Amino acid sequence: MGIKRPDEVEKIRIACKLSKKILIQVSEFLKEGMTTLDISEFAGTLMEKEHVKSAFLGYGGYPGLICISVNEEVVHGIPSKNKYIKEGDLVSIDLGIIKDGYMGDCALTVGVGQISTEVRRLIEVTEKSLDRGISKVKDGCRTGDIGWEIETFVEKHNFSVVREFAGHGIGKNLHEEPEIPNFGIPHTGFKLKENMVIAIEPMINMGKPDLKILPDGWTVITADGLPSAHFENTVLVKKNGFEILTSVN
Ligand code: MF3
Ligand code: CO
Repeated sequence: MGIKRPDEVEKIRIACKLSKKILIQVSEFLKEGMTTLDISEFAGTLMEKEHVKSAFLGYGGYPGLICISVNEEVVHGIPSKNKYIKEGDLVSIDLGIIKDGYMGDCALTVGVGQISTEVRRLIEVTEKSLDRGISKVKDGCRTGDIGWEIETFVEKHNFSVVREFAGHGIGKNLHEEPEIPNFGIPHTGFKLKENMVIAIEPMINMGKPDLKILPDGWTVITADGLPSAHFENTVLVKKNGFEILTSVN
């Protein structure tokens, strides 16, 4: 927990690169007409090929390999053989893996075929809000600095930030201290130190921030039924900035 040794950072870096590589391949594979279980099974074959395991399967009892959340589903959508992807859908894929005892965690949202201008804007603002949040990361910054940056950017674009779920420290465990909320007040919150590793993951709603949980106990949806988008990267805190570990370059 907390500050990672150089050998740990290297293992997390390897896990993170593989997680992003698989996530990108999965996002390119998904097409209308597929079920979310088809997509998850494809992710499973890629994990086997790379000799990595899902970080999500069994976590807190979660029953899937990855999370696939469609339209009004915010996060933690369980892959299902009954859920078909159709043209115009917005699909969030969240994927975490374990390699050599260390975790990598990342997520992205894509539109399927022709999507509405408003959905396109939601995806763009959410991705940009993640970049903005990451830009604040450096030794000595506080979690409130990151949250404030994300929240003000999102609200300026008239979307809303989900408050019940947050980013997190990551390492040997998927969720470690500190929590990284996507809202906050500058100069407040947990102070980040060089060689800490955190996952930042804004979940942004087109309408109101209020949520509901489906009877499956996992799938989080927007209370107003409007779409939600999600992007996540795992980031290393450096002396004067950051390194995005979930990058394929
Ligand atoms: N990226 C999500 C998170 O960090 C995924 C967790 S899904 C779970 O909360 F299944 F593992 F819970
Ligand atoms: Co995460």
